[in-house]
Amino acid sequence: MDEKTTKAVGIDIGGTSIKMGLVTGRGEVLATSKVSTGALDSDGAFAKVCEGVHALAEQGGIDAGKLDAIGLDVPGVVLEDGTLTMAPNITLDLAGLTTTLREAYPQASLAVLNDANAAALGEAWLGSGNARGGTVMVTLGTGVGAGVVIGGNVIAGAHGAAGEIGHLNVEPEETETCNCGCRGCLEQYASARGLIRLYREECEADGAEPVAIAHATDALAVFEAARGGNTQAVRACERLGHYLARALAAVAVTVDPDAFVVGGGMSGGWDTFARACLAHYREVAVSACKDTPIRPASLGNDAGFLGAARRALLSL
Ligand code: BGC
Repeated sequence: MDEKTTKAVGIDIGGTSIKMGLVTGRGEVLATSKVSTGALDSDGAFAKVCEGVHALAEQGGIDAGKLDAIGLDVPGVVLEDGTLTMAPNITLDLAGLTTTLREAYPQASLAVLNDANAAALGEAWLGSGNARGGTVMVTLGTGVGAGVVIGGNVIAGAHGAAGEIGHLNVEPEETETCNCGCRGCLEQYASARGLIRLYREECEADGAEPVAIAHATDALAVFEAARGGNTQAVRACERLGHYLARALAAVAVTVDPDAFVVGGGMSGGWDTFARACLAHYREVAVSACKDTPIRPASLGNDAGFLGAARRALLSL
């Protein structure tokens, strides 16, 4: 493929928004867009995704009918044949969406993958995840996931669930059920909703009035409060850091990566939980892996669509 002229669209479906990017084979981003996510299980919703692809292509000055590839990533477990077997935080008819995309863009090669795996691929391609041995990129957002990249390839696993660290048990005492059906999952503490919950718990324990939280995933309000020195917010962010460290220590003895990269929308608050995470990781990780670096991702919210586009481009 001619990397300069090849064009792909990456569609990153998150729990709260759909981010799209028009990308060349060399990774140059020609146009981007973002819309909020609703239920993706009707012809009307699928048509909106196609409208988004058309608008994006137009914005980038190309005909959508000439796109070479489309990469679609979704917040759930996807098998190699594109079947979605689990999606705890979204209403999604993946088969319907991919059929619509195939019909609308028959000339384009379509790839479908997990969102955290896409973000990891994106970081490995153009960001901070390009390690020789392996990188585990953790995505903290509406949900929590990870992509395990070894030698430039994402390991999907026998059931598509490699890297599903959002559903790693980090709290055996938990009484509430995670959206996946289990209890004590990392996602219950390190997702946007999870952090807000930890914060509310801290406020309740202290009898303190919580700061204004605009919506169910407004983790930014807690990060801002922590930065301003709000005691309960500081403690909630520290608890998030501890839980994350516990999960990373378990992953370290399974994969032993060169580095952990922390991305996703919640990594915008890295400054508020990094210290607790790094310190606790050193306490609980096995000695051989104690010095494994844990660093923030560098592509921000673009990692997902870039990785999705990359996967589609690689299939050309
Ligand atoms: C899902 C993962 C996904 C992650 C991030 C988790 O709840 O199980 O498949 O990668 O959220 O969206």
